[in-house]
Parts: sequence; structure tokens; C-alpha cells
Amino acid sequence: MTLRLTTDEQAMLAGEAGPGAQKAMEIVVALGQIYGAADLVPVASVQVSGVSYKNLGDAGLEFLQDWAAQGAQARVPATLNPAGMDRLAWRALGFSEEFAQRQEAVIAAYEALGITPTCTCTPYLVGHVPQFGQHLAWAESSAVSYANSVLGARTNREGGPSALAAAIAGRTARYGLHLDGSRLPTAVVDVRCPVTAGADLGALGYLVGRRVKNGVPYFRFADLRLDLTDCKSLGAAMAASGAVALYHVEGLTPEAAAMESHGGVQHLVIDDLAPGYAALNGPAEQVDLVSLGCPHASLAEVEAIAAYLEGRQVTAALWITTARAIRQAAEETGLVARIEAAGGRVVADTCLVVAPVAELSFRTLATNSAKMAVYAPSHCGLSVRFGTMQQCLEAAVTGRWS
Ligand code: F3S
Repeated sequence: MTLRLTTDEQAMLAGEAGPGAQKAMEIVVALGQIYGAADLVPVASVQVSGVSYKNLGDAGLEFLQDWAAQGAQARVPATLNPAGMDRLAWRALGFSEEFAQRQEAVIAAYEALGITPTCTCTPYLVGHVPQFGQHLAWAESSAVSYANSVLGARTNREGGPSALAAAIAGRTARYGLHLDGSRLPTAVVDVRCPVTAGADLGALGYLVGRRVKNGVPYFRFADLRLDLTDCKSLGAAMAASGAVALYHVEGLTPEAAAMESHGGVQHLVIDDLAPGYAALNGPAEQVDLVSLGCPHASLAEVEAIAAYLEGRQVTAALWITTARAIRQAAEETGLVARIEAAGGRVVADTCLVVAPVAELSFRTLATNSAKMAVYAPSHCGLSVRFGTMQQCLEAAVTGRWS
């Protein structure tokens, strides 16, 4: 299929908007040709991943600085994924000055490119909420899943450079989840066991993602007790275990009603979450770090943690990761003080998976996030315990998993 370009797009590709925009358009067009897109589609917003200096290194930093020096600028609202550290509290958390300087240089390069340094994987919790049907170019897998499934916007999972190129070009190639046909279910999943919010959704998502791989599950819950915000842990888990970027939940998500008559080719029945919990749990008995807030915690989640910790003291390190704006709101409402009084920390701008955790002395992690449980062993060298928020907080108090 030949990729059609508008006159403006052809001009950008020819370099009339400068070398930075030309390079962006070359990337977008190359991807369009690889994936057989008919044309490009303007995007309403972009979410850029590849922010941690731990992953980018000096080569990535120079790549960003060079692109900025070519005069490239985002044409649409664009936000950043978590960085490798809390930008204000990195020293107290134990990260080195050298890492902090390099990380700030990366963020400065993104800012020079016109990207807002929100440093969160939940931009939709801090005011960047796409509308139903809008085309986007988002990169972080759980955010992509949320935008597609819960909000009904349309985005493929972009890579770091392709999301940045889309921000600068203001468009992306129209293929994959931008097209109606790719949004149809490929599997019907009947969930017959009780599922409550939090870790249960992670265990469920882990099991389904592994079996549906790259597909579009259509969930039918025998007893639907979710609300849309609970879905962020479901989507994050499926993204981690099976690269699932879109799902539908009968009676809940915005495109589900239109999908009812498309049965999908696969049929799964989930009547027990225990295999999911078992697969995500290692043997560690001692816990030295507890991480909650993956995807980044909402204010309601921070509040629930503060309430649970009332009158308790943690002995293990406890990090609750969230967006800077949520942390600020938690500080203003006294939640940060309550969590700090119990010995925990509300950490902004980062997440454990992209932080240089090897610089610290942690060996074992407890988390209520299936996504974190999937990635922490390989990305952070940590042995993992996975369970409910209450189990994790109890482990933070006792230093042991029970
Ligand atoms: Fe967000 Fe990091 Fe989890 S990017 S989804 S907190 S692994």
C-alpha cells in the first residue's frame, strides 16, 4: 500500500519546517511504510517513554540533545514517562549525584524539545485525559492500555523515538489500533471467580495476558465489582505478561457494547486466581523494600495507604510511587506527613523499574502490582513477593512476608 501524504506533510518531509521536523517526519513515514499504513493521522497528545538515564545512557542523551539542537519542537501536548529518580528527594533515597546530574540533563533535553516533564505513567490522573475516539501516540504500556480501553482513545504502543517523532511531527501512521478492525475482540474471557480491586486484578491480568498475547480480550465478569479506575492494574498486568494494549469489559468500558456481537476466536474461562498469585510469587521470606503505586498511585490510593498505616511503624523501606502533582496534593492534605510519620515515603517522578536500584542495598521486594512483579527480577535484580496492598503493608511493618 502506498502511504499518502498531505501537502503539509510532504513539505515537512522535504525539510521546509527545519531539519528537526524533517527527521521526525522521516521516522513517522518509515513506520507507516513498514506497517502498511494508508496515511498519517494527527494526534491529540503524546506520551514519551525512554526517560531514565539508566536506560538511555550517554548515547541516548546525546541523541536527544542533537535533535533539540536541530530546532525540533513538539507540535501537540506531550508528557514524559517516569524518570530514574525523584527529582527532589534523590539524595535522601540514596541515588548518586552523578546519576542525578545526567538524569536532569535528559529531562532538560526533553524540555528543550517541548515535552512537559510530568514524569508519570498515569498522565490521565494529572489532567492529561484524552477524549473518546481521539488519536494519540502514547508509549508506556499501562498508559496505552488505559487510554485505549478505559478512555476509548486510539493509540498503538509507540517506542520512545517513535513517540517523540509523533510529538514533533504532530502525527502518527494510521495502522494497528487506530483502525476499527484492530479493536475487535480476539478472545472472550469469562471470569467466574470473585475479583476485587488491586492485586486480584493483577493476578487476573497476568493469567489472561499470557494466554491472549498481543490480542484484544473481551471480559465478561460473573460478578462485576470494578470501577474504571480499578482497571489500571488490570491493563498494566496484561501489558506486562502479554503485550495487550486494548481490552473491553462488558458493561463497563466505553467500546464494549459495540463489540458484543464479535465473539472473538479464543474462549477462556478463569475460575481461580491462585495460579496467577503463585506464578508472581518468589520464595523470599524477608522483605526489605515494599513498592506500591505501579502504575503511579492515585490520591485515593495514597489515602488508603495512609489510613492503613495509622498507628503503625514500618521496618522495611516503603516507597509509594506517584506523579509529582499527586504527591503535592497528598502533601497539602496531610497524607505525606502521615505516611512519613509511619516511616514510609511518597516518591514522585520515578518508578522502581527504571530507577538504578542496583545502587541501593535492596534484595527483596513486596508489591501489589503484577507488572512490577514481572519486571523487578530482571530489571532490578530483586526477588519478589506479590500480594494485596494490606499484605504488602504488613510486610513493610514486620519486614517479613506472611
Ligand atoms: Fe508505571 Fe513503572 Fe509501573 S512506569 S506502570 S510504575 S513499572
